[in-house]
Amino acid sequence: MLETRDLHKSYQSGDAKVQALGGVSLKIFPGEIIAITGPSGCGKSTLLHILGALDTPTSGQVYLEGHPLHSLNDDKLTSLRQLRIGFVFQFFHLLPTLTVEENVLLPLLLSGRVDGVGKARARDLLEAVALADRMHHRPHQLSGGQMQRAALARALVHRPSVLLADEPTGNLDSASSAAVVNLLTSLARREKTSVVLVTHSEEVAKAADRRIRLVDGRIHS
Ligand SMILES: Nc1ncnc2c1ncn2[C@@H]1O[C@H](COP(=O)(O)OP(=O)(O)OP(=O)(O)O)[C@@H](O)[C@H]1O
Ligand SMILES: [Mg+2]
Repeated sequence: MLETRDLHKSYQSGDAKVQALGGVSLKIFPGEIIAITGPSGCGKSTLLHILGALDTPTSGQVYLEGHPLHSLNDDKLTSLRQLRIGFVFQFFHLLPTLTVEENVLLPLLLSGRVDGVGKARARDLLEAVALADRMHHRPHQLSGGQMQRAALARALVHRPSVLLADEPTGNLDSASSAAVVNLLTSLARREKTSVVLVTHSEEVAKAADRRIRLVDGRIHS
């Protein structure tokens, strides 16, 4: 489903060079849920951003369903990202002027695919994350856990093959965190979506099928 080959990423700032990734090769199988853990600064977010083509590697390649992401032209890459990848972030990134329902529909809007089927799909996901009665609210009227559940529905509405989540529970208390992780894993399993879940939390990492620990930009275990 998703494979990386020898990913390197360095940042140059002035004279100093920071190596964020030092050769990461991994395979994520269809429907598999993997957790990425490791100390602050070990390269977790960098890896996730490169997996989702939000950032480019210094060298190496990412293959999504066989497509070499970092060799595609911008149009192909944008369309692949819009159709095949879902993102969940630590700070939710919901658009404040849109309702919860409109936020969930956003990935379909961006690729021009809002129709009756899409709206029914959004409604189904809003029910699955227990927000059907909040769909006409704005994000600021929701709790943190509710905002992240809305962001999860948005990340899945277009039936991505891969869900990428960076500290999705980093801003939640332990009860909301457990609810979001349970929903994320149960929905991903229902939809056979592969998941890459970056987390600091041992509790959250336990929900994954496989755990990868990064240290200094390399796979440690
Ligand atoms: N734009 C940048 N310019 C320079 N260095 C950067 C940049 N982005 C990240 N880095 C460096 O790359 C390394 C990896 O950063 P990254 O954000 O991937 O870590 P992380 O594992 O996600 O950490 P955290 O758990 O704190 O979120 C760090 O040393 C960081 O300072
Ligand atoms: Mg990070």
